[in-house]
Amino acid sequence: MKYALIGCGRVAKHHIWAARNNNIEIVALCDIDYDKAVAFAKTHSIENVNIYKDYKELINNEDVDFVSIATVSGTHGEIALYCAQNKVNFIVEKPLAMSMTEADAVIAAAEKSGVVAGTCHQNRFNIAVQELKAALDNNRFGKISHGSINVRWCRTKAYYDSDDWRGKWLSDGGTLMNQCVHGIDLLRWLMGDEVVSVYGQVRNSQHPYIEAEDIGVAVLTFRDGSVATVEGTVNMVEDLEQTLSVFGEDGMARLGGLNASSVDVWRFKDEEAADKDRREIEEKAANVYGNGHTSLFMDFVNAINEKRPPYVDLYAGRRAIEIILAIYKSQKTGQVVKLPLTDFGTKDMI
Ligand SMILES: NC(=O)c1ccc[n+]([C@@H]2O[C@H](COP(=O)([O-])OP(=O)(O)OC[C@H]3O[C@@H](n4cnc5c(N)ncnc54)[C@H](O)[C@@H]3O)[C@@H](O)[C@H]2O)c1
Repeated sequence: MKYALIGCGRVAKHHIWAARNNNIEIVALCDIDYDKAVAFAKTHSIENVNIYKDYKELINNEDVDFVSIATVSGTHGEIALYCAQNKVNFIVEKPLAMSMTEADAVIAAAEKSGVVAGTCHQNRFNIAVQELKAALDNNRFGKISHGSINVRWCRTKAYYDSDDWRGKWLSDGGTLMNQCVHGIDLLRWLMGDEVVSVYGQVRNSQHPYIEAEDIGVAVLTFRDGSVATVEGTVNMVEDLEQTLSVFGEDGMARLGGLNASSVDVWRFKDEEAADKDRREIEEKAANVYGNGHTSLFMDFVNAINEKRPPYVDLYAGRRAIEIILAIYKSQKTGQVVKLPLTDFGTKDMI
């Protein structure tokens, strides 16, 4: 498999590691900052690689099996659309896009051209998350009462100062769109995807130098009547937790650690022998990004070979931003927002 990476910043090395762990050949890199891409190639000993400044040139010149897009969030929609229109398979980092219109355009173009395309919500591959998904699919919780996601991390002024795009409505959004989007993806997916309404509030409490929120809270209502809460913030004095809970009539589970990668609580009325081991799950990861990029790339390559959609497709990315944009819209209007949401974007928060 021949592969190219677009965007050589902070998360990029995880894409390179994921490619190498899957024996994927890295043939091209692109960054709008050409020297940064050259330095990145050197740092990571990526040899015999073509380096581009313009992603369109890369797409037009290179014969690759797929690309991954790890650029500034506000550029994802545009680059993904170009890949789809030019029949290049792609993985796009989260968030898929900054507006529903943009997300829908990407999905429509990808379906029209028949490319294999997915969003980088790698935490779906966490061992603890996979166990929770299996327990839900096997109906071990019975009737679901409620769930929650709490992303309580720390991002300092130095973090926001490090890149001009961070915390701005058009290029990033706030903590829900950047840090909490994985947790929101997990919560919605695990609880069955069918969210009918969202009420949310966002604030900027501790980071006056950014445009968007540093704390967001919301209540989601699902079609089956179950409810869930969201709390996403970067206002902690240090990274505290990403905790995901699901409660049902027959079971309760809480995943914790910094990215929902360990099992804190695992109790079911129908205790199975394997539950003892499941309670011990504590997946080690070097940072809050987790280990999932390698699994996500592996599945993506298999999806190309098997001509099927990837495990984490573009709809996953769309569903996650739909919740976040609905929370933003709820803050703006003071109303409960009914889904589906079709026409809202972060630009509407300016
Ligand atoms: N999946 C995860 O866990 C995870 C973790 C961190 C970041 N991310 C996402 O990855 C993206 C990048 O984040 P980061 O922290 O690496 O940011 P970064 O600023 O460190 O890197 C982004 C890079 O993209 C380049 N770039 C910008 N516009 C471009 C364009 N049009 N063409 C080519 N290159 C362009 C920039 O020059 C920069 O080098 C963000 O969208 C972020 O949300 C995902």
